[in-house]
Amino acid sequence: MDEYIVSPEIQTEDRQMDYTLRPKELKYFIGQEKLKEKLGIFFSAAKKRREPLDHCLFSSPPGLGKTTLAHIIAYEMGGNIKSTSGPVLERAGDLAALLTNLADGDIFFIDEIHRLNRAVEEALYPAMEDYLLDIIIGQGPSARNIRLDLPRFTLIGATTKAGSLTSPLRERFGIIERINFYIEDELASIVKRSSKVLNIEIDKKGTEEIAKRSRGTPRIANRLLRRVRDFAQIKAKGIITQLVAQDALHLLEVDEKGLDSMDRKILYTIIKNFSGGPVGLDTIAIAINEETETVTDVYEPFLIQAGFLSRTPRGRMVTPLAYKHLNIVQPKHLFSAPEKTTQQELDIS
Ligand SMILES: Nc1ncnc2c1ncn2[C@@H]1O[C@H](COP(=O)(O)OP(=O)(O)O)[C@@H](O)[C@H]1O
Ligand SMILES: [Mg+2]
Repeated sequence: MDEYIVSPEIQTEDRQMDYTLRPKELKYFIGQEKLKEKLGIFFSAAKKRREPLDHCLFSSPPGLGKTTLAHIIAYEMGGNIKSTSGPVLERAGDLAALLTNLADGDIFFIDEIHRLNRAVEEALYPAMEDYLLDIIIGQGPSARNIRLDLPRFTLIGATTKAGSLTSPLRERFGIIERINFYIEDELASIVKRSSKVLNIEIDKKGTEEIAKRSRGTPRIANRLLRRVRDFAQIKAKGIITQLVAQDALHLLEVDEKGLDSMDRKILYTIIKNFSGGPVGLDTIAIAINEETETVTDVYEPFLIQAGFLSRTPRGRMVTPLAYKHLNIVQPKHLFSAPEKTTQQELDIS
């Protein structure tokens, strides 16, 4: 996994960069036009009413801007942001410690909110609804229940698995939005902006080449930009042109569609060992020696989104597009899966 250069998940080298490259204001957040328009209206309305913004839930595969949006909201609403994540909050007491330290109008950000445990989740309900927190102090017969008033905060939850949220939690969010994969033009704008911030010389074609191979994901676009810059500094006087980008990404084994060797291995395996599918997810995971969850969370979303793989009730199937991309002739007698999977199908895992 460490070597998986096109992984959308945050890696050690990204942390500092994610921070540096994060747009601070809504107007610098590229793409997702409908979402931005709606958020802009929600911000103004809440400000006008002098109320905190409704609690927001953002879902998307990794690297598409959930954390960035949480920070933008804090900036735009003029509050501070305190961040934590589902698995870190072990007891209701952990939640109490954080919530009681907030001020009116602050943002409380819970990443991976689908991983909250039951007790913490239940303590969160009255906090979200009425800014109240019930906590139990002491143990056994002397235990007492005390109720705390909380500041009027906004909870922002981020999740890569919207389907795993319980409905009582989900229903307590006033704003529920999905962030979608980005189109090439948007990714090109992101690469352009990042190269300015990082002082990297790159031409238009170079920008487009990186955008094209970024799997619809800003985090990957930024990572590829940095890797290509390293290559350009050693091999091409520091300037990124289309040719430089192509050579660098070829060396990194990221192909024209952004697939890397593991993606190609998955598609090859389904074609060679399972006649193109349908084949069960667990079987694929075993065949490529990976955890099932890694396949569903990391590799599969993009392969489906890009139309190389499709989910059917009987299992995963490669599409005609995958045969074409890998330069393999598709046997005529085989049933062909549709090229695109709908967004709804992506929601069921
Ligand atoms: N719409 C966007 N415009 C510009 N940069 C973006 C956008 N979305 C994400 N990024 C960049 O991608 C990186 C990853 O975004 P992040 O918000 O951490 O993703 P997530 O929390 O969904 O995994 C950040 O460094 C940010 O700079
Ligand atoms: Mg994040």
